[in-house]
Amino acid sequence: MKLKILVGTMTSTADYVAQAIQMDCADLVEEIEVCLMDGLDIGTFDEDALYLICTSTYGSGDVPDNARMLYDSLDAQPKYLGHVRYGVIALGDRTYLNTFAFGGKKFDERLQGLGAQRIGEVWCHDASAGTMPEELGTAWCREWLAQALTPVAAVA
Ligand SMILES: Cc1cc2nc3c(=O)[nH]c(=O)nc-3n(C[C@H](O)[C@H](O)[C@H](O)COP(=O)(O)O)c2cc1C
Repeated sequence: MKLKILVGTMTSTADYVAQAIQMDCADLVEEIEVCLMDGLDIGTFDEDALYLICTSTYGSGDVPDNARMLYDSLDAQPKYLGHVRYGVIALGDRTYLNTFAFGGKKFDERLQGLGAQRIGEVWCHDASAGTMPEELGTAWCREWLAQALTPVAAVA
């Protein structure tokens, strides 16, 4: 199984997190591809892969500029994404009290609306906490991958 990490970022933190995961989790999946969201649209979900949305939050609770086209296409060119299994890493800062980690949460809402299946909870990182998102993010991802790659028990 391939893991495709879709990165929404303004100042590269989300990209560093994705690259740390690519290095640290290589033993858990066959292939890990890191794709900046620039220029992508809903067609990026056509591949047979496990997806990880890794995005920060900007403006007042908005997705970063490089994620805008992909995010808008989920609304403008909707199609059923029932085959898509995904997770979300949502980077933010709790000093933005009312819009904490909304970038990732907004993607989650749209993907669920199109029938995609989220594995696990949305994982949020708070930049004001002084913790390293690369370190915590890879630890979270290892557990998330274990859950995502566990075969569902057959129903008798
Ligand atoms: C101008 C600006 C606006 C931001 N707005 C929000 C916000 O509304 N909510 C939030 O949780 N974080 C917000 N943040 C924090 C970023 O999402 C956070 O610092 C993140 O780690 C940056 O990741 P990046 O380097 O991948 O873009 C904002 C940061 C800046 C500089």
